[in-house]
Amino acid sequence: MSVAGQDLAGRVVRWQRTHGRSGLPWQGTRDPYRVWLSEIMLQQTQVSVVLDYYPRFLQRFPDVQSLAAASQDDVLALWSGLGYYSRARNLHRCAQDVVALHGGEFPRSAQILQTLSGIGRSTAAAIASFCFGERAAILDGNVKRVLTRALGFGDDLSVAANERRLWDAATALLPKAGTDMPAYTQGLMDLGATVCLARNPSCLLCPLQADCIAQQQGQPERYPLKTRKLKRSAQSLWLLDARDADGAVWLEKRPDSGVWAGLYCLPVFETREALEAVLPAKARKSLRDAQPFVHVLTHKDLHLHPVAAQLAPSALAKLEGGWFTQGRWPGLGLPAPIRKLLAPA
Ligand code: ADE
Ligand code: SF4
Repeated sequence: MSVAGQDLAGRVVRWQRTHGRSGLPWQGTRDPYRVWLSEIMLQQTQVSVVLDYYPRFLQRFPDVQSLAAASQDDVLALWSGLGYYSRARNLHRCAQDVVALHGGEFPRSAQILQTLSGIGRSTAAAIASFCFGERAAILDGNVKRVLTRALGFGDDLSVAANERRLWDAATALLPKAGTDMPAYTQGLMDLGATVCLARNPSCLLCPLQADCIAQQQGQPERYPLKTRKLKRSAQSLWLLDARDADGAVWLEKRPDSGVWAGLYCLPVFETREALEAVLPAKARKSLRDAQPFVHVLTHKDLHLHPVAAQLAPSALAKLEGGWFTQGRWPGLGLPAPIRKLLAPA
């Protein structure tokens, strides 16, 4: 192991036990169901938001059996607002597979956990490390930053062979004792989230400072190196915000793939003409264009154009979907921007 990695594990473990985050609701347990749920929620969502959703989700679905038996609509409704809904669909499928293929018990090794829906290599390692003390390396975005800096690993991570080498390096750095694995894994996550920040890392507070190559070089922010940029695209969509005389709104369930898959949504059209085409001629005259807004997805900016219409209950009979009263729609799984549009503050 490189000089830079000298006792890195020991430093991380000791630092985690004294300075790392503790007392989070998913830290006091080794129940793989609870740890798995928290790791999936935390993948793209801040701790402060997960603190709100996690207990509600567990109250409704206290174990993998109850989650597996739920309807997809109920799961998506509880996920509503967390975003990245493929996580919720994979979560549901994973629970069903744990019940159907693994007798209702999560597999106890990272290698087998990784075969389940929505569990990648790093998440599998996190669960196996927290619950079973397995010596398996995690390497999410935060941890890549910590390790590339500490090791001075300057190779381009958009090249697969380099990423593999970083995985190998991460594996070589693991503590020898499985009993140290939970603190080590949590410590790397905590360093990435609270100390070794993307901009202005707090090197003075870092337990790795003495040996950190990037810090010695004076420009930690140069790591990690990634040349291939995510290609972003933009798309305009028109949303039909149709109300009946009682204020009920017309919603349809999105298809199983694509943007907002499985969620309830206003009818979506690629052009304003296509939106008008589904309406009776009389209704086209009374359309009101509301303020367009941009909703940012991972790979795409959506330019959303809401168009409001007052309609007779039978006007949309050609579309799939239905009228939902003010009492009902808030309980559905809706994309966050649609929920906001329907209930302006
Ligand atoms: N992000 C991913 N996993 C996490 C965890 N266990 N604690 C805090 N942040 C995390
Ligand atoms: Fe990151 Fe600075 Fe710590 Fe190096 S010393 S790991 S750059 S916070």
